Amino acid sequence: MIDFVIYVVGTVMLAIWLMIPAYISNPMAVVFGGGTPIDMGMKWIDKQRILGDGKTIRGLVGGTACGIVAGLIQIYAASAFDNPIVPIPPLTAVITLSFGALLGDLIKSFFKRRIGFVRGAELPLIDQLDFVAGAWLLTYIFDPVWFTEHFISSPSIIVTVLVLTPVLHRLTNIFGYNIKLKKEPW
Ligand code: CTP
Ligand code: MG
Repeated sequence: MIDFVIYVVGTVMLAIWLMIPAYISNPMAVVFGGGTPIDMGMKWIDKQRILGDGKTIRGLVGGTACGIVAGLIQIYAASAFDNPIVPIPPLTAVITLSFGALLGDLIKSFFKRRIGFVRGAELPLIDQLDFVAGAWLLTYIFDPVWFTEHFISSPSIIVTVLVLTPVLHRLTNIFGYNIKLKKEPW
């Protein structure tokens, strides 16, 4: 029993560690968000906004930058700690996890607008996992070896991230809503 608890706690901690750049860039886009929207107010052929006012240049740049800074701190800390149970993320993965997360969120908004969901409308599960999909896909494209080693060959990490992320996302957004940073608690 105790072995199982240690295994679960260890897996959850490793999953969070591997996802930190994405877990930081996504909420930081909310903190830095505002100002000029990425689509510059332009509309698609369906006369709806391409992305909407919820996707801004400041959010994208500020969020990505914060995720990268968090990843650089991880590289520094893990190098100093120098223990194989704490993997050192490669710089490429730090960048693709941070930027990929917000790219996934942006692509989701594009499709949300196409199916007629206004900015801020809730799409359960997709709103919570869009950034994971983006982070994973971009990381797989740019560093398939690292991604395969830490994610594809560890299905327990994949499952943990898929289960844990909606919970963490929800808690973060309720917090963001309460401190009036976010318009909706999802
Ligand atoms: N945000 C931003 N730029 C981004 C992503 C997010 O400025 N690239 C900010 C916006 O202020 C946005 C808030 O973070 O309103 C919450 O993000 P999200 O829930 O992803 O956007 P929504 O407003 O819900 O819009 P959508 O319906 O397109 O998801
Ligand atoms: Mg939203």
